[in-house]
Amino acid sequence: MAIRNIRTMGDSILTKVSKKVEKIDKRLLVLIDDMLDTLYDAEGVGLAAPQIGVLKRVVVIDVSEEANNPIILINPEIIETDGCQTGDEGCLSVPGKVGTVERPNYVKVKAYDKDMKEFTLEGTELLARAICHEIDHLNGILYVEKVKDGLRDTAYQEEETDE
Ligand code: NI
Repeated sequence: MAIRNIRTMGDSILTKVSKKVEKIDKRLLVLIDDMLDTLYDAEGVGLAAPQIGVLKRVVVIDVSEEANNPIILINPEIIETDGCQTGDEGCLSVPGKVGTVERPNYVKVKAYDKDMKEFTLEGTELLARAICHEIDHLNGILYVEKVKDGLRDTAYQEEETDE
């Protein structure tokens, strides 16, 4: 278990397409543990393997308020979407910034778990947004490419919303 360094925009690894996971081995399990450690340390909602420099199709997401409900997606594929949501999005690889992005309001995703068993997961609102955002990372796409009215600084907003 370790916290890994998060790559930031400008690092070319973030623009590359990640490779499918072929088998679950000890190395991959360590990667997943480290991704979760890194996600929780950074207080993020989601993290994709390329963000810590590993070009594998692995994503971790936790949208729970208590940050105790990790979702692990290996080789995720969106198989259904519905509706549309417009809202602010940020990324651990683009610190201090936020921007408005349109995403589907409902997403159904097919993925594999740590036992390489296939499962499907449905998400709406924030979870749907996170699934789309993280899968984009696996395809070398940052949300900044999809932002509608440019990036804004978060500093002021954080002060406003901190409880
Ligand atoms: Ni991101």
